[in-house]
Amino acid sequence: MREIVNVDLPGREYQVVIGPDLLTEAGAFLDPLLTRKKVSVISDSNVAALHLETLRAGLAKQGIEMQALTLPPGEATKSWEQLEVCSNWLLDQKVERRDVVVAFGGGVVGDLVGFAAAILRRGVRFVQIPTSLLAQVDSSVGGKTGINATHGKNLIGAFHQPSLVLADTAVLGTLTARDFLAGYGEVVKYGMLGDTAFFDWLEDQGPALAAGDAAARVEAVRRSVQMKADIVMRDETEQGDRALLNLGHTFCHALEAATGYSDRLLHGEGVAIGCALAFELSARLGLCSQEDPSRVRAHLKAMGMKTDIADIDGDLPDAAGLLDLMGQDKKVVDGQLRFILARSIGDAFVTGDVPREVVLDVLKDALAGR
Ligand code: GLY
Repeated sequence: MREIVNVDLPGREYQVVIGPDLLTEAGAFLDPLLTRKKVSVISDSNVAALHLETLRAGLAKQGIEMQALTLPPGEATKSWEQLEVCSNWLLDQKVERRDVVVAFGGGVVGDLVGFAAAILRRGVRFVQIPTSLLAQVDSSVGGKTGINATHGKNLIGAFHQPSLVLADTAVLGTLTARDFLAGYGEVVKYGMLGDTAFFDWLEDQGPALAAGDAAARVEAVRRSVQMKADIVMRDETEQGDRALLNLGHTFCHALEAATGYSDRLLHGEGVAIGCALAFELSARLGLCSQEDPSRVRAHLKAMGMKTDIADIDGDLPDAAGLLDLMGQDKKVVDGQLRFILARSIGDAFVTGDVPREVVLDVLKDALAGR
């Protein structure tokens, strides 16, 4: 049960290896990349408590020594302050240009450590060992790295492709149900944006996936990563098609900003709600049938996921306030919001041609449902 997806970017090719128990084999996978048998691993305290010793043992099997830094968990770690902590620690460890840095954790650690690797000595190689479902299917693949700014999420960063991604699907067994389902928001996004057959498969297999079916988990991660790799190979730096991966994200970023990037709304939960809103907006614009948003919402609900704005606890701004928050989105071009809309489930496209009033109406109705 081991799958490999190749990301064939000329001169920066790498493999995403997917399967259970890869941590115990990590040494065998990393060894060919190393010029000396030593790696610097950066993790967070939750992941380190559960998995760092397994990784250490997996590396030691090949005689690879590991030095580790453990950061606080949570979105606040994607900061200038922690970037400095990482960079200073890597310099203290005397990491050289030919060494390899390992990002061992979820999306926060992957983005931060990838960025630290991108700028350390003008760029050192790094390996992603993603431990959350979200990181395995999205953030560890494709080379987007960065930190948050006071102006918004991910506004400071660089494209820096990893040299290898090891997605150990057994590790997903240690996630909370909430974290797993938040990551599932990104999985189902792939079906919605470009693969109807995958969406059909998820409607059928989603419950087994959530319940822990190992083969279904490998297959879901493989299909998601393959679709992401295909898109990244076509458009590494998001001049066009890569923006499709942001289905649901324009709404999501506004909802995350409105909830203070806190536990009130996890990123993947915001993506799921955002996808439902993007399909609703598409239906209102006459682009897709009214059945499509209903089918999207029915599947998210069947999985026990947050589906509607009404599922977010606490106060939120009004529709105009949410629309303002969308203005900080990285996809804004010449002040014009760009949306990922859909002609059907599995057929999304990017457009800047969306009347403000229709977006406002969708948000007003969604808020009225609270
Ligand atoms: N997470 C969206 C992208 O990698 O482009």
